[in-house]
Amino acid sequence: MSFNWCFIGTGQIAKKVAKELVTNPGHTIVSVFNRTKAKAEAFAKRYNSTVYESALEAINDPRVDGVYIATTNETHFSFCKLCLENHKPVLCEKPITGNSKELEELIKLSKETNTYLKEAMWTWFNPVANKVKEWIKEERIGKILSVDCIFNMPIFGYNKAKGRYISPSRYGGALLDLGVYPVRYVYELFGKPKSIKSKGKLYNGIDLFNDSIFEYDGFNAHVSSQINALVGEHCIIKGEKGIIKVPLFHMTSKAVLKTKGHKEIFKDKEKKFARQFRVNAEFIKGEQPNTLVSLDSSLDVMKIMDEIRKQIGVIFPCD
Ligand SMILES: NC(=O)c1ccc[n+]([C@@H]2O[C@H](COP(=O)([O-])OP(=O)(O)OC[C@H]3O[C@@H](n4cnc5c(N)ncnc54)[C@H](OP(=O)(O)O)[C@@H]3O)[C@@H](O)[C@H]2O)c1
Repeated sequence: MSFNWCFIGTGQIAKKVAKELVTNPGHTIVSVFNRTKAKAEAFAKRYNSTVYESALEAINDPRVDGVYIATTNETHFSFCKLCLENHKPVLCEKPITGNSKELEELIKLSKETNTYLKEAMWTWFNPVANKVKEWIKEERIGKILSVDCIFNMPIFGYNKAKGRYISPSRYGGALLDLGVYPVRYVYELFGKPKSIKSKGKLYNGIDLFNDSIFEYDGFNAHVSSQINALVGEHCIIKGEKGIIKVPLFHMTSKAVLKTKGHKEIFKDKEKKFARQFRVNAEFIKGEQPNTLVSLDSSLDVMKIMDEIRKQIGVIFPCD
């Protein structure tokens, strides 16, 4: 299948995913817009794309089948809105918006314009995460006893000078940058929690660290993310009959299920970003039912993150 992408933003994630995207047969990046034109030109040279002066012109290149938004968090809402108003299918980087209010507006617009909108929550286009969901559904480890889902990276140390991580006006902080993954993971496996209790450590109005207990029927899930220490990344689910371990759960190629006398390892080899673009192109062109990473789930997750921010005192201009 041929599919022509427009890229809005040519920063680090755009460069990373572009390399994988073009390994999908028929996928090309035909048009590009970036705030700093010189960077768009360097990017476009590699992919033989056309550089435009504005996002509006780039998305309206007549060859474009879908738009990928890879700019910083605080710009997602307006670029998504622009795409939807112009009837351009859009795949937007995580977190899709700054809060649930922004996402509700986009979902309404997506319905009104009958235009595709999706959060690039690559973990959940990955069969490993979906296998873990299946194991839980099939009660392979029995009644759930506890869940520990954490994602920590020392981004703060590396990028102190990079304003986007430490500025409320840019929807920065650990929760929006990393926490969206563990919150989504636990939500996808177990749904909306009955209650949430959160604490956090703030710096400059954003959270360096957030730590929550999600209450479910019969067990609690510990959900946490941190940008100022390297403590690792995992999701560990303990049940009465066994345990599921998913190291590096947001991007993993492997999950392990252990029960008495039995060990099962699920592996996946496909490039994760390539798959995300392949699957979204198929959804957009109607070549397979649009089943994964629903907007309702993105909205529920955004509402959970609103609640965590409310409890720890992180406020964004969009609130
Ligand atoms: N899926 C993943 O694994 C993953 C990993 C990393 C990041 N992300 C997400 O991807 C997004 C970008 O992150 P990144 O790490 O690629 O950031 P980055 O390297 O700093 O790049 C940011 C991009 O946004 C553009 N930009 C910044 N402010 C803008 C504004 N006011 N108007 C228009 N464009 C603006 C920048 O343009 P200039 O070139 O002009 O500065 C650049 O193209 C974030 O939402 C992040 O959460 C996802």
